[in-house]
Amino acid sequence: MQDCPGPSLTLQLPSLALEEDFYRMVREYRKAGESYDTLLEPLLDHLPTYLRRVDQIARGISLPVGIVQQTLFWLVRDDKSIVAMGRLRHYLTPALEKEGGHIGYTVRPSERRKGYGTLLCALLIQEARNRLGLSRVLITCDSDNIGSARIIQKNGGCFENEVISDWSGKPVSRFWVSTTPTPSTIYRL
Ligand SMILES: CC(C)(COP(=O)(O)OP(=O)(O)OC[C@H]1O[C@@H](n2cnc3c(N)ncnc32)[C@H](O)[C@@H]1OP(=O)(O)O)[C@@H](O)C(=O)NCCC(=O)NCCS
Repeated sequence: MQDCPGPSLTLQLPSLALEEDFYRMVREYRKAGESYDTLLEPLLDHLPTYLRRVDQIARGISLPVGIVQQTLFWLVRDDKSIVAMGRLRHYLTPALEKEGGHIGYTVRPSERRKGYGTLLCALLIQEARNRLGLSRVLITCDSDNIGSARIIQKNGGCFENEVISDWSGKPVSRFWVSTTPTPSTIYRL
């Protein structure tokens, strides 16, 4: 039987190597009325500037108020196309403990419903264990964000409670996820 490999999907640190695809992706988000990165939206038209700031934030340098040290990752298909972006916050503040958590992600609009959100979340959980030594992570989502809630559940999320967002006034669901993979997590993925 002939081998039929699927696309390669890798977690990568943002870099200039995918500059053209990055601008295509930013345009795609804007066309969809969304932002790829609300925190750094003004920098998205110049990738080198954006990368410098991303790197500073990863090192904890000149952090904006309320923002903690965090590492950004791209999920990249076949070394050519950015299909999703995830952020791993290195620690929680009381505000992030309520809403935000350790992990956030967004999937490029044209790449949704293909399993990339689930895969990216799984890889970020591994990074939390391997890079930061965390035994569990908090992930939160708007309670009406069915896709995100499903991603968290498929990654072994254990529902903690629902709170009301200080920002939107909407219900937010909070989940804790063990960073040690279990057979049932692997099976669900
Ligand atoms: C939410 C989001 C990350 C989902 O990413 P995705 O790559 O489409 O998710 P997946 O393909 O891995 O799907 C995971 C599950 O959610 C379901 N799902 C995804 N989007 C859904 C939607 N809009 N409505 C209902 N179910 C949805 C999928 O069917 C799948 O369920 P299944 O395994 O039972 O079939 C993506 O829509 C997105 O980036 N949205 C904007 C940003 C955002 O909301 N980020 C999360 C903040 S907490």
